[in-house]
Order: sequence, then structure tokens, then C-alpha cells
Amino acid sequence: MSIDTVFQSLWKDYVQLNPTASQIHDLIVSKGEKVVNDHVAFRTFRHPRTGVSKLAQVFVNEGYEFAGEYEFKEKKLYAQHFEHSDPDQPKVFISELLVEQFSSELQENVSKMIGEIPEGREDKSDFIYSGRLWKVSHKIYLDLMKESEYAAWLSAFGFRANHFTVLVNRLNFFKELAELNSFLEENGHTLNSSGGKIKGSPEVLLEQSSTMAKEIVVDFSDGAFEIPACYYEFAKRYSDTNGKLYQGFVAQSADKIFESTNKS
Ligand code: NI
Repeated sequence: MSIDTVFQSLWKDYVQLNPTASQIHDLIVSKGEKVVNDHVAFRTFRHPRTGVSKLAQVFVNEGYEFAGEYEFKEKKLYAQHFEHSDPDQPKVFISELLVEQFSSELQENVSKMIGEIPEGREDKSDFIYSGRLWKVSHKIYLDLMKESEYAAWLSAFGFRANHFTVLVNRLNFFKELAELNSFLEENGHTLNSSGGKIKGSPEVLLEQSSTMAKEIVVDFSDGAFEIPACYYEFAKRYSDTNGKLYQGFVAQSADKIFESTNKS
């Protein structure tokens, strides 16, 4: 499968689940812009069958290379990012929940979900957008939520893009992230304001903002419930002292961006 096909399939799944992302994309395009993705992000459980390296496989097979790692102590997450030699390909950011640091109840629930993944499914090239591969009740979703919003989101949505990210540097009409933010708010979109609407600064070479995930109806084994789905992110990168555009991530900012799937 070509990398373009992988991203097209991921985008198709993402906008089907999150029509708001599609609306925002079209709003930006309506200003004469061509949208280029800075990165696409994924969530997973640390486990031999589902960890970061497993999700990264489809990208590594297509020429992506490890380019950085990040720790989120409070949220008990670990992440890596991957880059392609073609700078027009989005970076890939994959985080995993450090399952072993949570209660035995959470560990049992996660192990049961992973146990329901058909054998070898994780080695197929479409695993990255295979969605939820287990049954889960809303009750368990709420139990997981008590310990980790991330775990709850992942239990409900499984493997797919958690967000796409518009690279503001490649826009012409919107020069600054703040201008794009105002435009989105004027058009009725709610931004994540945890730690301020703009996370990061020119000093750390990266500014990011994101929408708050809209709630959608999800089928659980004990009924259908409205829960927050995915969000859309916006990033502006700055050059370092050597004039090279920074390509990494800022853990402190990403930590707040994770909260875009919190119930607003
Ligand atoms: Ni992101």
C-alpha cells in the first residue's frame, strides 16, 4: 500500500467520524488555501501487539524513520515521532498508554480488549485505520475515564487518526496561528483553551492550537452514548538559529493538546 493511500484512508475515516474537521478544511480552502498536513497523530496501548512500534510499522515500511521521543509523566504516556525524507509527507506522532502504571482493573480491561483483536490483525497494512477491534461497554468506558481520559477514548475509538494537523506555514491568507484561530472561532468552532489557546511560542520553535473534539454517538455493548471524538490541530513552526525549520514536538504543549478530547 502506498503512503498516499494510507493517508487517504486515514483522512476518509477521520472526516466520516468528525464532519467538523471536513467543514474546517473546506473553510480554509474557501480562502484560496491548499491544506498541507504537519502531522497525523495516533493513540495506542503499550503492549507487544499494539505498541508504538507496531503502529509505526506501516509508515516505516514506506520510508519513515524514528525522529524523536517524548514522555508525559502525569498522563502516563510515551510517544515517538517519525519523519519521511519527502518533507511534503506529514510527520507521524504515535503515543502509547503506559498500561503497567495503572490499576489492576484498568490493566485487566485493556488486556481483555487487546485479547479480542483477531490473531495477526495487527500485522495487516490497514491496522492503522482498523478502528475499534473489541466490544466495550459505556460502563467500562466511564471506569477507564476515572483513571485516564486517553484510555477511555482509545477503548471507544481504537486504531485510527486521533487528529490531523494543518501546517500554518504553508498557508498564504493566514500568516499567524492567532489569525487562523480567530477565523475558526468567528465561524463557530470551539478551541481548546487548556494552557491558553496557543500552546508553545516562537522561542520553543512551535506554536499549536486545536479544536475541542465534538461529541458523536458511539455504539457500546450497553447502548449508544454521546462522547467526544477527534479534534483538528493547527501548527506553526519556526526556524532555529541555523535557519532550519524545527521539526520536533514540544512535550509541554502536546500534554495540553491531549486534553482536546476532554468533555467540554
Ligand atoms: Ni498533534
